[in-house]
Amino acid sequence: MTNFNTKAFEKLETPFYYYDESLLVRTLDNLVSASKKHNFHVHYALKANANDKILKHIISAGLGADCVSGNEVKKALSIGFSPNNIAFAGVGKSDYEIKVGLEYDIFSFNCESTQELEVINQLAENAGKIARVAIRINPNVNAKTHKYITTGLEENKFGINPWEFETVINLLEKCKSLQLVGLHFHIGSQITDLDVFKSLCIRVNEIQDWFISRHILVEHLNVGGGFGVDYTNVEENLVPDFNSFFQLFADFLELKPGQQLHFELGRSVVAQCGSLISRVLYIKNGQNTNFAILDAGMTELIRPALYQSAHLIQNISRLDHLALHKYDVVGPICESSDCFGKAILLPETKRGDLIAIRTAGAYGEVMSSSYNLRDKANVYYDSDLN
Ligand code: LLP
Repeated sequence: MTNFNTKAFEKLETPFYYYDESLLVRTLDNLVSASKKHNFHVHYALKANANDKILKHIISAGLGADCVSGNEVKKALSIGFSPNNIAFAGVGKSDYEIKVGLEYDIFSFNCESTQELEVINQLAENAGKIARVAIRINPNVNAKTHKYITTGLEENKFGINPWEFETVINLLEKCKSLQLVGLHFHIGSQITDLDVFKSLCIRVNEIQDWFISRHILVEHLNVGGGFGVDYTNVEENLVPDFNSFFQLFADFLELKPGQQLHFELGRSVVAQCGSLISRVLYIKNGQNTNFAILDAGMTELIRPALYQSAHLIQNISRLDHLALHKYDVVGPICESSDCFGKAILLPETKRGDLIAIRTAGAYGEVMSSSYNLRDKANVYYDSDLN
């Protein structure tokens, strides 16, 4: 059970992000012991949360980094990730960003188009380097998640489609400054149906067989991230079941002798350790509902507005009050989509009460904006407050 230090919170200016480092460490311990059983490699997807303190825990746990921009690569390097543990994906890498990766000899560029392969080859040649590349493949597997975070269907912009494989092989033969080290897949995020990953494994086996039939056996397979978390029963599932997740790949993915399997997990590592803490500014009686108007909005956490996601909302000033009332919990931004949840059951809620919006450690703070010229929310860690 998460015990928020509401006494300490009372003294702080809201809204703020609160991170429970002890939960993060527990999550990482679990993740590492589950992946080590199979000798799998995990790269943490910096896009989920790139706070220094969080990244330092992740480095201490021995994870690599998965980056999607030149600045993420630079951040990973500056915080201490080793270049040979950094994968760089992204459908639109600029020349400058590619040069950053080349300069530091990163582990691999996960390439998403034939033209990108040509550009990396040219830039590597100019720099007198050999770029290590993995082909990001679009396997056309349905991730059964929100359409905005589905990335592995033919209709999506990501990855190279099978009808281009022949072209890729011919291209790689010509590109003398590229070294093919892997095949990469990432089909989407917040995947809660584990059968989806089984379908991915089956597709990866087929695709790998095709490449082997063309005499290409890569050293690394990378199956991306996407492992979902429980946004509803948060307390029961503070630490995702990494054992079942990795076991599934051990059971269904056919690794060839000496081949290494990599993952790029973001959300499942950091989502549950973060909460957005806010104060109720006003209670307003609407026509069919009451509004609880918070001092946090879509500028601090855009997920409900963008993906219609439902985060658990708790009035942590009145956890012991049993009688519940319905509220539409909304932010102060001038948009009707600025709503954290409709008909949310809360104890009778008053101006000044503290509200926790849970499971906000991933894609929360990193996606915040200054729309309406809002200030950036503060950040606190359990170690600051105890
Ligand atoms: N690898 C690649 C190439 C990715 O694009 C992503 C996420 C990951 C790994 C990490 O996936 P995860 O393990 O976190 O599911 N803003 C959205 C999520 C966008 C995910 C983008 N790519 C949200 O708030 O739900």
